Amino acid sequence: MKAKILALLRDRGDYISGQEMCDMLGVSRTAVWKVIGQLKKDGYAIEAVQNKGYRLLEEEQDNFNEADCKSRMKTSWAGKELVFFPETDSTNIQAKLLAEKGAPHGQLVVSDMQTGGRGRRGRQWKSPAGSNIYFSLMLRPDLEPNRASMLTLVMAMAVAGGIEKNLDGIVKPEIKWPNDILIQGKKTCGILTEMSLSVEQDSISYVVVGVGINVLEQSFPEEIADKATSIAAAAGKNPSRSRLLADIMEAFEAYYECFMEYQTLEGLMDEYNGRLVNAGKQVRILDPKGEYEAVAEGINRMGELMVELPDGTTQNIYAGEVSVRGTDGYV
Ligand code: BTN
Repeated sequence: MKAKILALLRDRGDYISGQEMCDMLGVSRTAVWKVIGQLKKDGYAIEAVQNKGYRLLEEEQDNFNEADCKSRMKTSWAGKELVFFPETDSTNIQAKLLAEKGAPHGQLVVSDMQTGGRGRRGRQWKSPAGSNIYFSLMLRPDLEPNRASMLTLVMAMAVAGGIEKNLDGIVKPEIKWPNDILIQGKKTCGILTEMSLSVEQDSISYVVVGVGINVLEQSFPEEIADKATSIAAAAGKNPSRSRLLADIMEAFEAYYECFMEYQTLEGLMDEYNGRLVNAGKQVRILDPKGEYEAVAEGINRMGELMVELPDGTTQNIYAGEVSVRGTDGYV
């Protein structure tokens, strides 16, 4: 109900009468009045004028909560089912629990803080409260299991697009293959995708795509300060976290449909490569079998990074096996 009233106020952008809200939502005047009171208590500035109704004033405070996220969601399935935790262990863990209980395709788990945030390669993902976005989107794609890793690249594109929209295009977020989002050369977002197979092990039961975005954080531990940043620190703007999340879900839904049509990145490859920070650059390939240098060309339809070796031959690198770095640093 809170989310619905917030959505009505926001969409109107002007006064909306209490009666109109009652009629649209099929509830009593008292119910609307009560929710308006709760919203005010939550910190929303809502003006009430006799004979005109209610108006939501410019939102200065970053309201990152379940009602706000729900009220902004414009998708048809991605994030339509949404659970918000002010604090949790890890949104990936929670999304997997919901998946095991039969949650639908597109179930979203969001949190303001994680006590056990997990990164790739078994690393920890620092997840303090009040400044970032931690979310996991659960999918049930009808897809060969060996293609699921491409969903990470699809999400990377959606996050980059969502951030760009929220910065009014002043900064173009880039992607460091396969799935780190960079703003001005520093990491702003990481993605961890986990998959569960059917009992027969031949099809996907569900995939959880977990995303951590540094949004408002201003300072970073010394050991990562040269390669990590946040949207606010790098672009000088403080986007609304719930609006950013809704924009990412909207972008993801569109990219996902395109991905599933081909079951490859065929239709998305050019756009992905347009954001690829490594494109045309000399990179160091950190292969467990040995490190080597090559020039990154771009991804192919399977999401592999195509690189040109010093002898002129091309090699396709699969993300699961290796990491890629710039020749003198992170990118
Ligand atoms: C990386 O190492 O770059 C990936 C980091 C992924 C972090 C996110 S935060 C939300 C979700 N829950 C987790 O525990 N991890 C992912």
